Amino acid sequence: MKKVVLAYSGGLDTSCIVRWLKEQGYEVVCFIADLGQGLGGEDLEEIEARALAAGASKVYIKDLQDEFVNDFVTPSLKANAIYEGKYLLATALGRPLIAKYLVEIAHKEKAKAVAHGCTGKGNDQVRFEVSIGILDPKLEIIAPVREWEFKSREEEMEYARIYNIPIDVSKKKPYSIDRNLWGVSIEAGVLEDLAQEPPENAYIITKGPTGQYTYPKYIEIYFEKGVPKKLDGRVYKLKTLINHLNEIGGVHGVGRADLVENRLVGIKSREIYEAPAATILHIAHKELESLVLDRETAHFKEIIALKYAELVYYGLWFSPLKEALDSFVNSTQKRLSGTIKLKLFKGNCVPVTRKSSHSLYKKELSTYGKDDKFDQKLAEGFIKLWGLPYKR
Ligand code: ARG
Repeated sequence: MKKVVLAYSGGLDTSCIVRWLKEQGYEVVCFIADLGQGLGGEDLEEIEARALAAGASKVYIKDLQDEFVNDFVTPSLKANAIYEGKYLLATALGRPLIAKYLVEIAHKEKAKAVAHGCTGKGNDQVRFEVSIGILDPKLEIIAPVREWEFKSREEEMEYARIYNIPIDVSKKKPYSIDRNLWGVSIEAGVLEDLAQEPPENAYIITKGPTGQYTYPKYIEIYFEKGVPKKLDGRVYKLKTLINHLNEIGGVHGVGRADLVENRLVGIKSREIYEAPAATILHIAHKELESLVLDRETAHFKEIIALKYAELVYYGLWFSPLKEALDSFVNSTQKRLSGTIKLKLFKGNCVPVTRKSSHSLYKKELSTYGKDDKFDQKLAEGFIKLWGLPYKR
């Protein structure tokens, strides 16, 4: 019997896919990747049971949270990668990691095919398939949603009912949601109407104006070589630190974004995002860079940041350019150690103090006070030469 490894989420689509693939003559092995989505009340064991009930012959559950934050989130944080000015790439960063283990499990199971539940209109199909293609070009990739006969959610529900495929009916689903440790992506439903403000109930981990704390919260983040290590003086594993920041940031309404974005497949779509920890860490990291990096490196790095974000968004994580950019970024992070204190209040996250033993800030040069060591006489000659090319 042909065997296929399916990236299984536990939702309606991938549950129907299990059954559908069996009808195509496949034995179906399900792979559940834990990137921290379970913390949203999703019980991984429940999802496993659902996969088996839907007809899977075997289920793999892998806790990939540490690998996700260390090898995927951290490099993109160091690079300050933000897509189209707002999206911190939570979903996009998770896909290559899931692809990596899909391929690994396929090898272990001696399966010749892998499958995913992405639609033909999205970015995620591209990220999965490009990554899989790079890691093992011989694997066949099946994308049932692109080829099956169902035209609506209702038809899928009917199919699930006929074949006793268990679905989680407790969740009414007005939105399509993807969640992991680094953030939540929410789309569809009323959000497709650009004339409407996202309703408060669309948000999951951040509080709106009425639910937020009414006093500011100060936090201190210590980075070592560009990697967050401490929160308020205490050392944490990165995964734990991110969880804490999601919680603290969430109650202060930090990290919401509403974006009409350019998808890879040519369409524009509206999505809202919640990423309290990612937002706080990006702001703090950037702040530390303004202290430590020289002007030219800092400015050049902004160009790299744009490209890096595109590569992540475009599914090119395992590409040579991305690897080369990592080398550049890492070399800029060698001295990036220090502490940034931030104030969280009413949806804002603002750096208030900074400290680093590698700081290039020299008060004796910038001061307007009596300790001034800056030789103002040098400025005259500098300005003359600087402006020389433009003299007519
Ligand atoms: N637009 C985001 C991206 O392309 C998220 C896609 C998944 N969103 C979702 N709600 N399922 O990375």
